[in-house]
Amino acid sequence: MLKWPPSLTRMRALAQDSRNMAPRTEKVGIVGSGLIGRSWAMLFASVGYQVTVFDIIPKQVTDALADIKQQLQTLQKDGLLRGQLNADQQFQCIKGSSDLAATVKGAVFVQECVPENLDLKKKLYLDLDKAVDDKTVLSSSTSCILPSKFSEGLKHKSQVIVSHPVNPPYYVPLVEVVPAPWTKPEVIAKTKAVMLEIGQEPVVLSREIDGFILNRIQYAILDEVWRLVADKVVNVEDIDKVISEGLGMRYAFLGSLETAHLNAEGMANYIERYGETIYSVSNTMGPIPRMTQDPNAPAICEQLNQLVPLERLQERRAYRDACLTRLSILKKELKNTYKR
Ligand code: NAI
Repeated sequence: MLKWPPSLTRMRALAQDSRNMAPRTEKVGIVGSGLIGRSWAMLFASVGYQVTVFDIIPKQVTDALADIKQQLQTLQKDGLLRGQLNADQQFQCIKGSSDLAATVKGAVFVQECVPENLDLKKKLYLDLDKAVDDKTVLSSSTSCILPSKFSEGLKHKSQVIVSHPVNPPYYVPLVEVVPAPWTKPEVIAKTKAVMLEIGQEPVVLSREIDGFILNRIQYAILDEVWRLVADKVVNVEDIDKVISEGLGMRYAFLGSLETAHLNAEGMANYIERYGETIYSVSNTMGPIPRMTQDPNAPAICEQLNQLVPLERLQERRAYRDACLTRLSILKKELKNTYKR
């Protein structure tokens, strides 16, 4: 039971809570209200930003708001809601709009979430360029388009940056922050600060590079996995076990460099012990597979269809998301227990 009058510590906590709960006035614009736009809207609202969601299809906005409301209620019921505000308070921070200029005007941050199509993004950024002032950060969710490709020639090009999330962003906190060659340092700093504030884990690249980081690593793994299956060294089911029951167990908690550091008496010792072996094994890896032209592709697809029939993909996605939810809770608990 709470004591009254409250202790000094409790009063400080209450004051902190009320500061956290006070309505904020800073505005965030979300452009595109599909899968990713909805997640971003929820993340920004979790710390009280005034979020406006825009889509070229007005029904998408209505559907997005209904979906967000439902998601926030479910998260609250399951004890998984982020931030200090309750589900209703968070939902009140989000509104829809059918006016692009009004959505982004005066916003401190705009998160663009339209489909992955360069021409579409270029056209949209021309419109955004006309609507924003010199202070708004124009951040794109793009998975693989370099920011220079859609910002070159814009008046506000130094305000454009990529914040690439990982799906589902509510449970997978990484955000790759990728500047264009002309992005202002203060825009990079602001983006990083905003991502931290909404509880994500930003990693800032020093320059743009094809595939950013996550996909470059993902493709390197996929290439070797593909070669091993295509060469019939191992089948689809077993190679995926190597990740889910082996490498992935560690990689959910430690990166590959720290893993190496711990696997010997530090990294220098690891290089001494395993550096040459790694080099000679790496030399046996074959050429980059071209899946679209590989005659092994139908057999590999068939093995996957046997494992997860196409009509069960949705069920399996739900399983993946449930696993990620639990893993994110476990990681939070472990982080609080074991500080670095
Ligand atoms: P989506 O297809 O679910 O949603 C896109 C939304 O944008 C739709 O509601 C559509 O009506 C709207 N839209 C189309 N043109 C528009 C315009 N000119 N102005 C405003 N709205 C417009 O797409 P999703 O999956 O949300 O992807 C959005 C972006 O996020 C893409 O760049 C994608 O690469 C990136 N991304 C997607 C991930 C995923 O797993 N789905 C993961 C990380 C990034």
